[in-house]
Amino acid sequence: MLQTTLGSLELDNPVLSASGTFGSGWEGRQFSDLGHVGALVSKTVTVLPRPGNPAPRIWETPSGMLNSIGLENKGVDYFVRETLPKMRELAASGRKDGRNGPRIVINIGGESIDDFVTLAERFCREGVHALEVNLSCPNVQEGKLLFSTDPRLTEQAVRAVKKVATVPVFAKLSPNVTDVVAIAKGAEQGGADGLTAINTLIGMAIDWRKGKTILGRGIGGLSGPAIKPVALRMVYQLAAAVRLPIVGVGGVRSADDVLEFVCAGASAVQVGTAMFTDPALMVRIVDEIAGKLAAAGTTIRELRGAAHRASAPAAGCAR
Ligand code: SIN
Repeated sequence: MLQTTLGSLELDNPVLSASGTFGSGWEGRQFSDLGHVGALVSKTVTVLPRPGNPAPRIWETPSGMLNSIGLENKGVDYFVRETLPKMRELAASGRKDGRNGPRIVINIGGESIDDFVTLAERFCREGVHALEVNLSCPNVQEGKLLFSTDPRLTEQAVRAVKKVATVPVFAKLSPNVTDVVAIAKGAEQGGADGLTAINTLIGMAIDWRKGKTILGRGIGGLSGPAIKPVALRMVYQLAAAVRLPIVGVGGVRSADDVLEFVCAGASAVQVGTAMFTDPALMVRIVDEIAGKLAAAGTTIRELRGAAHRASAPAAGCAR
């Protein structure tokens, strides 16, 4: 009832962690049995260590939060040596009773196409299950979003990764564009196996008494329930326009939220910001969607895209 696929990747269920909100999952294992989630998605890994942006990096907003982490991480060598074995252990813990266990998805970030290629080669050699290409971090390169605002560069980056990758490749898209479909089509042309939609919306917080911006770098990425309607709209729009499987992400807090994304056309859904306050949430959602689907007499596969079949296409969302 809960099984789903992302291209050739089979998942026990459609619930994944969102990159950057749950580390590698290792610290989260004390709160719930992570063997039950569909996949664990790592924080973005880059070729070299990155110190990240100046503090403050996080700011709570009404119904969400801003982050400006700046892809802080210790680089690929450290990740492969210290972090990946822990993700493998978590994945193995779920491989029983005929289940696949959580799939290991590595989110890779780069400032150049060569960076993405280097990381893709390395992680494919390490036998991870899929790659999520972070084309859309708003907190680096002065927020220029180099790849994810240009269909041609998106296509080039994805094509280069696909050339070396032996596992499915998902392109993580930015909502900070006028036409997300054009970018998604670039990813499709480049050979992406799926899309992750969406990354954060660029935002800002200001302390008027001090007369300055709050985040160390001024701008940050807005996530949480505030962005769910935007994410749902984009997933709906993408599902109508491209043939690729979509991983929905943005403001998910409940089983109902997950099922709404599936109804909009997502094949799987990531849970992110909500896990800062409830690190056991993902596993609870997996249990709850089983009950909700059973009560409705449907499955994830049947529900996927139902909103397209039931309602008149909205402007700009035509199939
Ligand atoms: C960050 O590390 O700044 C956030 C990552 C992202 O939004 O892709």
